[in-house]
Amino acid sequence: MFSTALAGCSGYAGQETLDRVLAHPELEVVALGSNSLAGEPAAALDLRLNGSLPAFVPNSEALASGADVLFLCLGPDEAAAFEPPVDAVVVDLSGGHRLRDADLYGDWYGFAHPLPAALVEWSYALPELYPPASRLIANPGCYATAALLALAPIGEAIEPDGIVVDAKSGVSGAGRALKASSHAGFVLENLSPYRIGSHQHAPELEQVLGFPVCFVPHLLPLRRGLLATCYVRAVDGDLRERLEDAYGDSDVVRVLPEGVAPELNRVQGTDTAEVALFEDRSTETTIVVCALDNLGKGAAGQAIQNANLALGLDETAGLRLTGVLV
Ligand SMILES: NC(=O)c1ccc[n+]([C@@H]2O[C@H](COP(=O)([O-])OP(=O)(O)OC[C@H]3O[C@@H](n4cnc5c(N)ncnc54)[C@H](OP(=O)(O)O)[C@@H]3O)[C@@H](O)[C@H]2O)c1
Repeated sequence: MFSTALAGCSGYAGQETLDRVLAHPELEVVALGSNSLAGEPAAALDLRLNGSLPAFVPNSEALASGADVLFLCLGPDEAAAFEPPVDAVVVDLSGGHRLRDADLYGDWYGFAHPLPAALVEWSYALPELYPPASRLIANPGCYATAALLALAPIGEAIEPDGIVVDAKSGVSGAGRALKASSHAGFVLENLSPYRIGSHQHAPELEQVLGFPVCFVPHLLPLRRGLLATCYVRAVDGDLRERLEDAYGDSDVVRVLPEGVAPELNRVQGTDTAEVALFEDRSTETTIVVCALDNLGKGAAGQAIQNANLALGLDETAGLRLTGVLV
């Protein structure tokens, strides 16, 4: 068993990561970190948590617990300041270690990176495309995961200019802390674009793809689920084959048959993703759609998948992959 500690447990990403760790046959919780719940029993987060779990401790204490595996489920500024122990596998679910160029943090995240020289030690890991290359792992953003699953395998066979990524996410993508823009009164029966042209996942996409894309996120009146529709122009005819080659062996990412569209319903509450490709008859545009759960493949599921790979475990251990719930 690998001892495991989590920081930021009381957030949505923290709670979902804890859910996967509890279902994992080879990870054992030794410390539950939460500054807001420190001193409280595990059941203070959710009444379904009881029995043998330890009580919450401050995040700093959880991260100093000596655990084999650490999950950072914190805001990006807090995670960026973390100095990792010499031997643990660390998965950062925030954007605190995703960008290689530290100067970008000021512009896109609104803070100067506190440990810029250490960024090279973190590997940006999306298991199907870029497995972890070190024990310090920057987990991709939820929108970035969907856009990269759709675009990265076909990146060399499309026109790099003029790519549009139109993406929509359920409100849990904004986290548990209450904000005016996540009030029911604003979200329900509404659809609103936000951070148009300035979302922090844009530089992450450019870093990986090698070209910028026009990315516009939208807030959906749903609890969870994320769908990205990507508009590209092919310069080579084998785009579908490239997607099938990339994901043919995957238990996590499904390439759908021709004519079948991804649906949030089939991925909500799971760690899977669906990808499908269509041709627009009128404009010769190729449209690649990816659906996933922002808290599953977009966060906790991918974090566990990355930890599994770094620990040499079965890649899918602890993941939520099966089921045909309506
Ligand atoms: N939500 C997503 O879909 C998603 C997807 C991918 C990546 N991420 C990333 O994961 C990280 C955490 O995101 P999140 O969605 O989990 O954010 P969140 O729910 O707002 O939680 C963020 C932090 O705030 C604290 N917190 C949670 N609820 C609180 C409350 N009611 N009052 C005061 N503090 C509270 C928690 O720390 P303590 O437990 O220490 O108090 C937690 O670490 C972020 O960097 C985010 O970008 C999120």
